[in-house]
Amino acid sequence: MVEIFGCVLKDGNAAPVVHSALERLEHRGYDSVGEATVYENKLWMKKDCGTIDKVHARHDLDDLPGRVGIGHIRWATHGAPLKENAHPHVDCNRQIAVVHNGIIENFAALKRELEDLGHVFGSKTDSEIIPHLIEENLKRGLPFIEAIRETINRLEGSYAIAVIYAKQPDKIVCVQNQSTLTIGVAENAAYIASDLSTFLPMTKRAVKIENQEFAVVSDGKYEIRRITDWSLLPREPKLIKWTREKAEKLGYPHFMLKEIHDQPSSIRNALKSQDQYLDLITAFLDRAKEVFLVACGTSYHACLASSYMFSKLASLSTHPVAATEFIQQQGRSINIDSTILAVSQSGETADTLAAVEHARIQAATILGLTNVVGSTLTRVSRAYLCIQSGPEVGVAATKTFTAQLCVLAQLALRLAKKRGKVSHVEIEHLEEKLEQIPGVVETILQTQEDRIRKIARKYRDKGFFLFSGRGINLATAFEGTLKLLETNYIPSMAFPAGEMEHGPISLVEQGFPIVFICPRDETYEKIVEDIREMKDRGASIIAIAEEGDEEIKALADDYIEVVKGVPEFLSPIMCVIPLQLFAYYMAVERGLDPDRPRHLTKAVTVK
Ligand code: F6R
Repeated sequence: MVEIFGCVLKDGNAAPVVHSALERLEHRGYDSVGEATVYENKLWMKKDCGTIDKVHARHDLDDLPGRVGIGHIRWATHGAPLKENAHPHVDCNRQIAVVHNGIIENFAALKRELEDLGHVFGSKTDSEIIPHLIEENLKRGLPFIEAIRETINRLEGSYAIAVIYAKQPDKIVCVQNQSTLTIGVAENAAYIASDLSTFLPMTKRAVKIENQEFAVVSDGKYEIRRITDWSLLPREPKLIKWTREKAEKLGYPHFMLKEIHDQPSSIRNALKSQDQYLDLITAFLDRAKEVFLVACGTSYHACLASSYMFSKLASLSTHPVAATEFIQQQGRSINIDSTILAVSQSGETADTLAAVEHARIQAATILGLTNVVGSTLTRVSRAYLCIQSGPEVGVAATKTFTAQLCVLAQLALRLAKKRGKVSHVEIEHLEEKLEQIPGVVETILQTQEDRIRKIARKYRDKGFFLFSGRGINLATAFEGTLKLLETNYIPSMAFPAGEMEHGPISLVEQGFPIVFICPRDETYEKIVEDIREMKDRGASIIAIAEEGDEEIKALADDYIEVVKGVPEFLSPIMCVIPLQLFAYYMAVERGLDPDRPRHLTKAVTVK
């Protein structure tokens, strides 16, 4: 996950402009940075891993000649955060420089093809194939623009790309597919950016490059074409009234809400996990004698949900353990036959790393699932997977939770296939359902947000909440509780619905709010009974139920609809969305800042 920026100035040097634009995004915690300019028919470039400050101190990012430049700030997904993996990437002759945001899904095949043609690659990124493909097309005699167009026709996946070429030093060429790219238009300059907040201090006039569009940007001018039929698309700039801070949140008032809304796209990214790594981790899980799923907080809830997935789909029994308890609970029994799948958004949570270190010393196999390539977890893991969510700014984890669930669901499905536990027809059906999950999440966001806001308003003064579910959605109940209590400071707890009679029922009195997560899975009949029982004792029921579920609607005081027909193992991904929104709107209704919960930090790196 990255951001890209470029500028074509009438006068002056582009490098300091690119540098300060990228600096505006630095607080999100990127791991590498790079810039390239063109001057006197030559390409100039500086790049390295580390924060911008550190890279600037080492290389002086302002010291590149030329009025046309591109820049890139990287959050590693393909290839570790190393200098060679930092963008821009160049062709064999160092004539073409490219910055890229997105994922090229067919890069492995294209790379093999280019290597056969004699191209030499310096990085492990998917992006580097782009300058080499353009080079190859130039060699075939195509003009520069045609060479890019031809290149784009070969790419599968999502991309926002900016290209500069030593022999055409007056322009930046950009392409966008399922990504974000905007042109900023000023009197004496034009800018391109994946995050328009980077150019707002220079200009407020912006033109969006839509899906499958191509743009050529020169000083103060731009030309946009549709890739498919090459038709010219006249498009006037719009005035952006947002402040830079608001633009960074894409107009949302808080990062938490922006990141909740990012989920259709972050889930799509998570589903693009590379096959060979999924297969590798699946193979480790398949041959493991015992598997521990170890994590803290939200990541632990992903582990809880996945223990149901592994068991139900692949007949693999796993032990989800809170990392803080792992050494006490399991420490002495860990040995060479143990496999630990550690899940951590940051890859730096001290308790998770301590558990992993303990297991590592006992010769256990360590597998990792994280959002941060290059984090300590990736360094100590035998194999790891990246959830590819990009930076999560809100302290409360939202989009990284659903991305973790998606990758874990993919692992469970692969393992089921490998073990022959589910028929091919069923696997195909479940894979199809998994592909549809981004759309399911989108539907819930589009249709339920207003209702959830109203429900939050109604319940905002309640002093305690209980969340309940059965089966895999017990994990969802735990996550709903955590979201509410961390952003609202309201005591809340989650309990398995079947356990209510073993204690929590004594809490219930008139108007006592209980959130039930009750999609129509195999626990449905029982949960309807649980709801009835609580209702009889005066509880106020907020139900997360499937659309058209009249039985639950009639029982509940308030309900939020999720999509019908989502298989049980995927249901936490959709059912958690209303709970994230509920926590968010409760905080807003109560005048709290959901992005900055008290006493909490994004990564707990000390014990
Ligand atoms: C909750 C939250 C925390 C983290 C926990 C683990 O919204 O963000 O509970 O989930 O601190 O963090 P990672 O996943 O980085 O190990």
